[in-house]
Amino acid sequence: MADIDGKSLALQMQEQLAQEVQSAVAAGKRPPHLVAVLVGENPASRTYVRNKMLACKRVGMTSQILALPNETAEEELLEHIRALNADASVDGFIVQLPLPSHIDSDKVLLHIAPEKDVDGFHPLNIGRMTLGLPSYVPATPWGITQMLLHYNIPTEGKQCVILGRSNIVGRPLSILLSQNAPYGNATVTVLHSRSRNVERHCREADILVAAIGKPHFVRADMVKEGAVVIDVGINKIPDPDAPKGYRIVGDVDYAAVKDKCSWITPVPGGVGPMTVTGLLYNTWKAYRREVYHSTPVGV
Ligand code: GUN
Repeated sequence: MADIDGKSLALQMQEQLAQEVQSAVAAGKRPPHLVAVLVGENPASRTYVRNKMLACKRVGMTSQILALPNETAEEELLEHIRALNADASVDGFIVQLPLPSHIDSDKVLLHIAPEKDVDGFHPLNIGRMTLGLPSYVPATPWGITQMLLHYNIPTEGKQCVILGRSNIVGRPLSILLSQNAPYGNATVTVLHSRSRNVERHCREADILVAAIGKPHFVRADMVKEGAVVIDVGINKIPDPDAPKGYRIVGDVDYAAVKDKCSWITPVPGGVGPMTVTGLLYNTWKAYRREVYHSTPVGV
């Protein structure tokens, strides 16, 4: 078994990006600018957004958090989105999910201008990605494809099983892995809450991706000998011995599974840092107008 070191790959890719940002700034252009809209006080969301802003700083991008109270009316949030769409100093922005239950997330995502949708969640970007056209690829699936490529893990003809069909991870990843692409050509099965024979499907996987948000859901008896295991989970579990009284674990029982597989992503230090890197890459693409080709910054 060997760990896929997402943290060091992420830092390496961010270092490259930092050099490109630095060149643009040295040529007299303003740095790329990302805004994160955060509604309410969800502690996990606050941590994720803070990490995204720190990563921006690391690569020389500027960023800003637009923090709105939990009671923000849907129409008020839509007004903020219209303003961000129209603001030429903003290259891209994200609306951190989940939103409070009185706000319709689908409606909100539809209001984001596709050219500024650096999460890649707008139907136009999902459609473009699905057709293999230039697009913003959702950050976590992108990060997973980059790890597979970097570690020369073959996907062609492999049986890939994805636990979870979310719009953020499972579904877009299933599209990427089945595409005719260097990270693709896999045979993909997506398992979800209504799936039958979940354990049997998992045992047949050459590449098993867990993205369901259930701590230690994947046990050793669900993993084939020599499989590649990608753990997307970030779950808090109580731990009286930990300084904060809790620790973060994945959807995979890492300690039990690690000796059975050929490659595995640890939690933390696996998929998480690559997700942040994906957002930075999309922000760079937005800044360069790579997907929608209107006038680049500073020209
Ligand atoms: N919530 C969990 N993951 C994500 C993400 O990648 N982007 C946004 N906007 N919200 C999330």
